[in-house]
Amino acid sequence: MSDRPKILVTQKVPDPAYPLLEEIGDGYGEPALHRFRRHTSHPSEVIMSDRPKILVTQKVPDPAYPLLEEIGDVEANMDEGVIWPYEELLRRGPGHDYIYSLLTDNIDSHFLEACAAATPRLKMVANMAVGFNNIDVDAATRLGIAVSNTPGVLSDTTADLAFALLMATARRIPEAERFLRAGKYHGWGPLLFCGVDVYGAMLGLIGAGRIGKLVARRSSGFDMKVIYYDVYRMPEEEEREYHLTYMPFEEVLQMADFISVHTPYMPSTHHLISERELNLMKPDAILINTARGPIVDEKALVRALQAGTIAGAGLDVFENEPAVEPELLSMENVVLLPHIASASLGTRTLMATMASDNIVAYHLGQRPPNILNPQVLG
Ligand code: DGY
Repeated sequence: MSDRPKILVTQKVPDPAYPLLEEIGDGYGEPALHRFRRHTSHPSEVIMSDRPKILVTQKVPDPAYPLLEEIGDVEANMDEGVIWPYEELLRRGPGHDYIYSLLTDNIDSHFLEACAAATPRLKMVANMAVGFNNIDVDAATRLGIAVSNTPGVLSDTTADLAFALLMATARRIPEAERFLRAGKYHGWGPLLFCGVDVYGAMLGLIGAGRIGKLVARRSSGFDMKVIYYDVYRMPEEEEREYHLTYMPFEEVLQMADFISVHTPYMPSTHHLISERELNLMKPDAILINTARGPIVDEKALVRALQAGTIAGAGLDVFENEPAVEPELLSMENVVLLPHIASASLGTRTLMATMASDNIVAYHLGQRPPNILNPQVLG
């Protein structure tokens, strides 16, 4: 209807008033503007009575939902822990304006094309994760679909877990606890569960972005020396701030007592740590991975652990998640976690609302704060 009247609501009033007005006209003026009208650079797309359709693919922390419900109609998978298989995602996804995705969703080009061909056409995928290797961002960009992630808010929590995993592996904490729970503890022993020292050891970071730097900061409390390799060498000032020494990749592997992986996963980091790299590590070194599973060649890691090429591993991520190489499950010198590095309730809540905020911003015609392909905004 082109002759819809314009209605100004001069103050926020109880919610039930708005749909009655929306039935017959368009709101304008702040603050009514946000409630009634999509700010957009494409006025032809404004259909005032149309609320966007939003799909949330897994149960997320509660505060994410009201933000979305404020602007649109939300369809959500509310079964905690249930991950839709690809076929189900493909069946449910097309026909939504926005998809709120998780790292377990394979948002590939086929899926995106199906969503772009449907009505309404998909406008944005908001991933509740800093990593976005589950999304074909190039295909999304080609199709004009925005993609966002949730950087920053999880860095400290993830660094905490990386350090916890390092300590747990070095000091054999899960193994010792299993022993005690099994009723095998019959008294203190000089050789009982001797591990390796963390304090004073050398930590090698493979990747020193936001999370790597925060791991370095934690390690300084343990008097560790920290060397790093990254494709981008940071300015000297920053190296000094984090007490980091840059070294070539191979030298980091050869010198460190602990190697902690903090690179994003992309074609160039696939199997970055494989047989050759594991062979370069010290026989008493420990590998920690809280980044993405396929950065480490998991079969090569199993062989290295079996052969004593390295001493142990602490893994929060796996090459074919949720599957884990079966041999790892029976090894006592590895600590295995179900991808929980960012799992504090506070951080997951921040990530959840951040993903919603990205959708809301797009919907209001604003630049989503964490957009990965801003070129689609034109
Ligand atoms: C991420 O956000 O990419 C982590 O792997 C999960 O929090």
